[in-house]
Amino acid sequence: MKPGYKAIYEQYRQSILRGILKPGDKLPSVRLLASELGVARKTVESAWAILVGEGYLVSQGARGTRVNPDLLNLAKKYPVIGEKPTPTTAGFGKSLRDRPGFLRLGIPSLDAFPYKKWLLLSGKAVRAMRPEEMTQPPLMGYAPLREALAHYLNISRGLSCSPAQIFITSGYQNNLRLILNTLANQRDKVLFEEPGYFLGQQLLKRAVQRLHRVPVDNQGLQTEYLQQHHADARLVFVTPSHHSPLAVTLSLPRKHQLLEWARQNESWIVEDDYDGEFHYTRQVLPALKSLDTHDRVIYMGTFSKTIMPALRISYLVLPHKLVDSFRAQAEHSEGGQPVLTQKIVASFLREGHFFRHLKKMRALYSRRRKNMLAALAEVYPEIFTVEVTDGGMHIIAYLRSGTQDEEMAALWQTHQLQVSPLSIWYQNTPKRYGLIIGYTNVATFAEAVALLQRPAQMTRALAGK
Ligand SMILES: Cc1ncc(COP(=O)(O)O)c(C=O)c1O
Repeated sequence: MKPGYKAIYEQYRQSILRGILKPGDKLPSVRLLASELGVARKTVESAWAILVGEGYLVSQGARGTRVNPDLLNLAKKYPVIGEKPTPTTAGFGKSLRDRPGFLRLGIPSLDAFPYKKWLLLSGKAVRAMRPEEMTQPPLMGYAPLREALAHYLNISRGLSCSPAQIFITSGYQNNLRLILNTLANQRDKVLFEEPGYFLGQQLLKRAVQRLHRVPVDNQGLQTEYLQQHHADARLVFVTPSHHSPLAVTLSLPRKHQLLEWARQNESWIVEDDYDGEFHYTRQVLPALKSLDTHDRVIYMGTFSKTIMPALRISYLVLPHKLVDSFRAQAEHSEGGQPVLTQKIVASFLREGHFFRHLKKMRALYSRRRKNMLAALAEVYPEIFTVEVTDGGMHIIAYLRSGTQDEEMAALWQTHQLQVSPLSIWYQNTPKRYGLIIGYTNVATFAEAVALLQRPAQMTRALAGK
């Protein structure tokens, strides 16, 4: 649906109040914004007129429209949802986890979350807590959530699984710990993608002695390489729906090759389907596990991208023959997950809110991704290039030349733009260089332009342009 003048007015007012647009920032021309949003110029002009009337914007004739330079910087008064105060001793290390700011990858659109519905379901869940639910939580998860998940995964991800195969966990670290402790010993060879999920490689480097990397190209993991060099591996971690971070999809022939490799060598595949729900250019693709006729795939899913990371609820779908050994391992190392949270999530799924939310988010992300791509082309046409993939929650702005992505990310971070340099997601050379940009919390094209412009001068200097 095209936005009306009121929606545009409200978006821009919020951007100014939240400090995304700062006093003195230049706005895009009426013509450009109207064509970007697919609305008549008059619609944008009406929104501008109100904002000028209220003193948020000043019109400077041929020089365009700016945020009123005399406005106090309002950001401190109206903090962005989820922002924490800036730590005074923040360095420029590689973990962005605890930093406030914009463009962080992998965070769902927090402004579009159905908070009212969540509040309602939370109240109901608290009121319905029964005494037996207040003792130790069930080790493999709250039964109604496992049932609702099995239903969802069968319909939406093409899996054919039962609730008995589902193990509710608290996120990636928990999953890795469980999988390694149950299936691998010190001498086992473990494989990871190159490049690959930054946190995953950090964790595995610490936990596994024989860790090897398998290259990824534009069709995903190179399965021929796997067959040639790693017939003896115990486990391989893959992100088939959208590779992390390149966002490419593992091609169908390679999916079959990968499954065949696992069958022949009796290896295990860990399918990390962290954001497989978000495809924009075609229908949602079924997960690799949906093709797993020999039951060699451990499927890993999470609510971090579809609901919120702070929930700390994820899940494994185990091959039938592994259920007992995972349970036995968990008896020693796990304590179960909070029942109340699981109850809320179960009713969110069961009552259909989850499906509706996903549908809404797919459309929203598709729009926000377009905005970010257009803003990148507008601000940095000479510095970055992008390769548009089918989905995901981030884009990669590849450097057209040079290798200075770490310096550039550090510079952007000083402007509270929490992007990650692509090269650090590689272990070996050759590497590719660029910035990984999360676009999901940037509401408009103008916001995207304003954010990208913050470090523009120094970015150009760094790129030698
Ligand atoms: C590649 C990848 N796998 C898995 C996850 C899920 O992590 P968690 O469930 O711990 O939030 C993420 C989240 O950022 C991710 O990027």
